[in-house]
Amino acid sequence: MANLIVVGSQWGDEGKGKIVDLLASEARVIVRFQGGSNAGHTVITKRGTFIFHLVPSGILYRGKLCVLGNGVAIDPGGFLDELDGLSAQGLKVGRNLVISHRAHLIMPYHKAIDRAAEEAKGARRIGTTGRGIGPAYVDKMARIGIRVGDLLNPQAFKRKLQENLVEVNSLLRHIHKTNGFQVDKIYTEYMSYAKRLKGYIGDVPLLLEKAMKKADPILFEGAQGTHLDIDFGTYPYVTSSSSCAGGACIGTGVGPTKIDAVLGVTKAYTTRVGGGPFPTELTDDIGENLKAKGQEFGATTGRARRCGWFDALLLRHAVRVNGLTSLAVTKLDVLDGFKELKICNGYRYNGKLYREMPSDLEMLTKCTPVYERFPGWKSETSGMVSYKSLPIEAKRYLSRIEELTGCPIDMISTGSRREHTIVLKNPLGPIKKPSRSRK
Ligand code: IMP
Repeated sequence: MANLIVVGSQWGDEGKGKIVDLLASEARVIVRFQGGSNAGHTVITKRGTFIFHLVPSGILYRGKLCVLGNGVAIDPGGFLDELDGLSAQGLKVGRNLVISHRAHLIMPYHKAIDRAAEEAKGARRIGTTGRGIGPAYVDKMARIGIRVGDLLNPQAFKRKLQENLVEVNSLLRHIHKTNGFQVDKIYTEYMSYAKRLKGYIGDVPLLLEKAMKKADPILFEGAQGTHLDIDFGTYPYVTSSSSCAGGACIGTGVGPTKIDAVLGVTKAYTTRVGGGPFPTELTDDIGENLKAKGQEFGATTGRARRCGWFDALLLRHAVRVNGLTSLAVTKLDVLDGFKELKICNGYRYNGKLYREMPSDLEMLTKCTPVYERFPGWKSETSGMVSYKSLPIEAKRYLSRIEELTGCPIDMISTGSRREHTIVLKNPLGPIKKPSRSRK
């Protein structure tokens, strides 16, 4: 049994929630390592539809330990609302959930700064989720962040808050011309959260070490995607955390030698929410068709996602920077009925052909994608569970993705339900059910 990292290979929303949910049945511990409530995972089970923002979706199973590592930015009010929502849906959350005392808190002023900074950017706005993610990580790096553990020490919490509000209020009032915050109001609010949160706070590196000593399989659940990573994404149109596989070590306190495999989740096409370059974006009827068929609206903000063709350059970059060992391709069924499909395998910029993802924003914005064309398939793949039954055109399309990315496909998702999945090889280790042949 392996310790497996699952990351998004594109710009987020690849369907990691469903894949993690499926793999969680065989893991013992499920850990989030970065991001915050900017993420939104939808999991559809027989018990209903669950939307997760902070809580790992592994909570749906009994006997699993769910963990929020130090790399996660915790909005305590949102987190408690999420717990209340889950409990209203019949889920028990107690000792099966642990939050690192090293994780940083999202404060009300982070959200205010996030919104004000976006507004000030005008047309160059990033299109953030407005959840205060960027400003919270800014404070972490500036060494003025307030951590989950500070909730257990009211005096230290108040002192840090007082110190921070001096600068924050000056920024909000004088630069952004908006209202500031009062120490007492935030203090009272956060101390009420502390009462409910304290039972969940723990030492994450220690408990993960204990799990590894028992050979309990650990699933590291990434949020967002490779191209939203603060270092390897389409900077500055990125989120403010390390959403690549390396973030799993930094964001939990587990050393790289303990990781066995990295699974990259990718849609069979591409989507992106918010601003930033997107070379294969389709602004025509095909893009609208993908949006409608794929129900491409964000689980967090409800915003429509931009849609486009599959981009092999994005994926090759993801394979490289994450050390992907295999892929899970999701939403194959959304491509059912398309007459022709395209995969981008190069960018043309200023008369030159590029085969690998450039880091230069201008090139990414102005390049023209170079496509390979594929015949589509007429029959439905929706809900299929066997590779054998896939139309030959779909098999060719998937094989070409493997060739172009140099990475094998382990799983193919053909619908939103757990069972609508083709498992060629279980990335977490030996498969319970016999593997389906590819012939
Ligand atoms: P932030 O993470 O709210 O700061 O937003 C930065 C960028 O990341 C924006 O373009 C968001 O739309 C995008 N983003 C953040 N979280 C997600 C996600 O879970 N899925 C897709 N895009 C996201």
